[in-house]
Amino acid sequence: MWFPRHHSKRIGSIEEKGHSAYVLYKFVLIKPFDRISYILIFVNPFTVSFPDFFCLFLFFRYLYKNEIHALDKQTFKGLRSLEQLYIHFNQIETLQPETFGDLVKLERLFLHHNKLSKIPPGSFSHLDSLKRLRLDSNALVCDCDLMWLGELMRGYARNGQTQAAATCQYPRRLQGRSIASVTVEEFNCESPRITFEPQDVEVTSGDTVYFTCRAEGNPKPKIIWIHNNHSLDLEDDSRLNLFDDGTLMIRNTRESDQGAYQCMARNSAGEVKTQNAMLRYSSPPAKPSFIIQPQDTEVLIGTSTTLECTATGQPHPHITWTRGSGEALDGSRHLVTSGGLYLQNVTLRDHGRFTCHAENNQGSVQATANIIVQAPPQFTIIPKDQMVLEGHSVEFLCEAEGNPPPIIAWTKAGAQLLQEGPHTVLSSGTLRIDHAAHHDEGQYECQAVSPLGVKKASVQLTVKPKALPVFTQLPQDTSVQVGKNINISCHAQGEPQPMITWNKAGVQITESGKFHVSGEGVLTIYDAGQADQGRYECVARNAFGLVVANMFLTVVAIQGRQAGDDFVESSILDAVQRVDSAINSTRRHLFSQKPHTPGDLLALFRYPHDPFTVKTARAGEIFEHTLLLIQEHVKQGLTVDTEGREFRYNDLVSPHALSRIANVSGCTAHRQVPDCSDLCFHRKYRAADGTCNNLRHPAWGASLTAFERILKPAYENGFNLPRGAGARPLPPARLVSTELAATATVTPDGRYTHMLMQWGQFLDHDLAHTVPALSTARFSDGRPCGAACTDDPPCFPIALPDGDPRRAQAPCMFFARSSPVCGSGLTSLLASSVYAREQMNQLTAYIDASSVYGSSEREARALRDRAAPLGLLRAGRAWARSGKPLLPLAAGPPTECGRPPGARRGPCFLAGDHRANEQVALTAVHTLWFREHNRVATALSALNPHWDGDTLYHEARKIVGAELQHITYSHWLPKILGEPGMKMLGGYRGYDPNVNAGILNSFATAAFRFGHTLISPVLHRLNDTFGEIPQGHLPLHKAFFAPSRIIEEGGIDPLLRGLFGAAAKLRVPSQLLSLELTEKLFSTARSVALDLAATNIQRGRDHGLPPYADFRVFCNLSSVQSFEDLQNEIKDVGIRQKLKNRKMTPGEASL
Ligand code: HEM
Repeated sequence: MWFPRHHSKRIGSIEEKGHSAYVLYKFVLIKPFDRISYILIFVNPFTVSFPDFFCLFLFFRYLYKNEIHALDKQTFKGLRSLEQLYIHFNQIETLQPETFGDLVKLERLFLHHNKLSKIPPGSFSHLDSLKRLRLDSNALVCDCDLMWLGELMRGYARNGQTQAAATCQYPRRLQGRSIASVTVEEFNCESPRITFEPQDVEVTSGDTVYFTCRAEGNPKPKIIWIHNNHSLDLEDDSRLNLFDDGTLMIRNTRESDQGAYQCMARNSAGEVKTQNAMLRYSSPPAKPSFIIQPQDTEVLIGTSTTLECTATGQPHPHITWTRGSGEALDGSRHLVTSGGLYLQNVTLRDHGRFTCHAENNQGSVQATANIIVQAPPQFTIIPKDQMVLEGHSVEFLCEAEGNPPPIIAWTKAGAQLLQEGPHTVLSSGTLRIDHAAHHDEGQYECQAVSPLGVKKASVQLTVKPKALPVFTQLPQDTSVQVGKNINISCHAQGEPQPMITWNKAGVQITESGKFHVSGEGVLTIYDAGQADQGRYECVARNAFGLVVANMFLTVVAIQGRQAGDDFVESSILDAVQRVDSAINSTRRHLFSQKPHTPGDLLALFRYPHDPFTVKTARAGEIFEHTLLLIQEHVKQGLTVDTEGREFRYNDLVSPHALSRIANVSGCTAHRQVPDCSDLCFHRKYRAADGTCNNLRHPAWGASLTAFERILKPAYENGFNLPRGAGARPLPPARLVSTELAATATVTPDGRYTHMLMQWGQFLDHDLAHTVPALSTARFSDGRPCGAACTDDPPCFPIALPDGDPRRAQAPCMFFARSSPVCGSGLTSLLASSVYAREQMNQLTAYIDASSVYGSSEREARALRDRAAPLGLLRAGRAWARSGKPLLPLAAGPPTECGRPPGARRGPCFLAGDHRANEQVALTAVHTLWFREHNRVATALSALNPHWDGDTLYHEARKIVGAELQHITYSHWLPKILGEPGMKMLGGYRGYDPNVNAGILNSFATAAFRFGHTLISPVLHRLNDTFGEIPQGHLPLHKAFFAPSRIIEEGGIDPLLRGLFGAAAKLRVPSQLLSLELTEKLFSTARSVALDLAATNIQRGRDHGLPPYADFRVFCNLSSVQSFEDLQNEIKDVGIRQKLKNRKMTPGEASL
């Protein structure tokens, strides 16, 4: 059969050395021969012509004894049916592994007598039908590369299906041997051995990296690279190169190249792998940058959302979140996930800004997004039904929250209330109705409206007609016998029901052992004395006004001797002896040795230094102690009718005996009437002791006069026993301190510096200094108050409650009472009556810089520099650096100064107020003002060379006093009282001689001690660049009585800079007094330190201050029954709760 030429395709040639080769054609057959897919036809163009001479052999092919030199891999392609192939006796030198690949039916393959020296492994692997294979008489080299053929032959022999023959030609030692008989050793194979292992490398992006691997073996091993357990396909990735020596080169590295690299060396004798070499990828350090930034998100309340935030950078950035202006997240509901911030169960509090911070060691970036919480309106304050008195104003509070914020609208009987007439809807949502009238009664509705919904709340307003108080029973003039009790009735009606209070000589009477005002308004006076005689006013007050009714009480003296008269002389002697002995031993203890206890320091701090003050105080103590002794004698004899009340003084002794006690005790030697005759002087300058300032009332505001009262004192026995010290105990002062006052944390004041505090203390020390008891030991037996722990005059120790850690050291804290003013009280001695106990101020009441100049002529003289007539104050040594003088040192025995503990006891600084050394910042301010006097005096002297020393002194003093007043009224008070307070105070309206400038007891003992809440626990000491000085800032407890810290640690400048450079403590209701003051006040090594908060409360009780609730009545504020009534004043619920937990009533709360 002929095949048209165009059906043929030349597919290769069998080449003959030296001349043109046989040409190999492939023909595509057509039917009916399609059983055979391909035929191979070898044509020798020299001997046969194609296609004319062509013969088809479908199953056998005889090609032996040709001149065939080579067979390429296509030669027998497709001859799947070929069964016999005879190509022996040719010149074939090489075979390709694929040459026989298609001959799946081949049974005979004769290749003998050729020139084959090598046969590639696998050359016969597909010849599954093979029965005869001849390879003998070739040039086969039996080296390791042919070992596979030996194994194949042996395999053929084993299964017996295939006869095969192959003999070695080389090496010589194996010539003629059947390959099947050659052993592994004879083939001389060597399995691969690694001679160089690849090493770990660290690269950055884009680097070229080399992994070297060398291996030896026979035959030479092939190197294969494995990356993360997969062979590397070098063809696939042009970045990869394998060098002949086995080195792998990776160009332009990227992150995916990271991982383990292993080199495998393989030859026919085996394979071996190296250890893993790691390629670590490190991209160059890069600042974080955001991939996804959080976006503003609106979210409905109660649902959840995620603010997405992802960032990249090298190293990988750490993501954190904050909210608002840096506050922490709510850990329970805000979860930081890898993709962002998950906000669970969103509340209105989540509304606001959230910031995603991405940070690594190269830097940080922030992105902020807003969470916009959508919330339907919810009431936060629901209005309550109200009753209002006609003409009065009423407010219905109504507040709601939501987002968008709801608008509050009010309706009455369905109609919207207009912003006119008496109705006002305040911006807070409160409905205010001014001058309520009858027609305002009815139902009102508060509506909170937002696009997300409406909430409504209804309330009822009742308007009660007004009624001024009207007396239904007027008090009548009456008389009472000395020592008896009397009831005076007074009733009134009105709407609302009026409240009855009583005044005596303009001073409101408060509940005490002396007076009681019943709910119906009946005034009871116990143990009437001459001092109780006089005009009384019954005041009936309700919201519409007040009415007043007067009556006169006459106290009828008892004629004849009284039960106590018999004991007067002996008791006086006894009292003098006991008081003097206690005073002397106290003085010895305090002044002749180093103070041992904080109590000693407190006593020294308050101790009067002026001998006249000491005399006056001694007289008061003797007077009162005499009465006490007499009373004890009488009680023992049971000759007095006490009507169930423990103390009675007015019928204890006769008026004559009372005068005698006053004389002997020294009370009558008390201050003479001031002599103001030198009008020239008094009209120009102030007296040192404040007398004659008010020429109509020369003693008003003078030093050593009793404090003033706006409410009658409240003593348990009406005379001198502190409230709570008798049968009706009050909450222990120390407990009130630890539970309500003491704070470990303080908040710095964002607006004012610590100078705010310091000016307050300095000012206080110009105004008030109570004369203390002269003895710190019991009069009865001389035992120190701090050790005896009993309420035995003059001791009034502060009990330490159970569980107080200080109880381990002592059962009480030191406290001695303030000294009493002579019991019959000032000029009223003439009335031969005993008065309730009063306390005395050692200072002038005026803001006259008495803290700089002293409060008595004697003190003033001691402070003046008399050496030259320049009107100067005495100066101490100059501070080395500035050359400016420090305060002079106090003469006399060293007292409380010489701290800190362990330091040598040294003198205190001397200033106008003895307490100047109490803490070093105060000392610094004293120093500043004494320098100011000398500066002004020197300037005046330059201007007025003709002035003498006295004139210069007084003129300079006048200016310094004015400076203090100016600073106080123009700069300090506005910061303390705020605008409303200053408005109430009003402007200066000129000198009014009817105003008593004397300091109120309640001011010195309570109100002005508010300043203790401004005290920061640390005194900052700053250098001239406002950094900390080398000796550091001072915790307060190291600053008490420590003048050495000024002398040795930088003078006053660091302290002054600290005062105007560091914040004051903020007044926070839950943070009143720092622990430095409640736990470490005047602390010394082994003793119980004092507690200023407890001391303040105890002092108030010592001074007979009525409770806070009584002052409210005086100030026309609502009277309160429970602490809930004080919601507006005590806004902190926690504090109200604490008070309730203690089962305290407002009546027990101190001022
Ligand atoms: C570090 C600063 C202060 C300390 C260590 C301190 C300490 C004391 C002490 C121990 C007492 C005597 C307590 C007693 O036994 O009754 C006292 C009384 C007083 N303190 Fe302070 N205080 C300081 C600052 C202030 C401030 C800033 C003010 C007012 C703004 C102030 C106002 C008063 C008043 C009015 C008294 C009563 C004075 C008297 O009548 O004797 N104190 N202080």
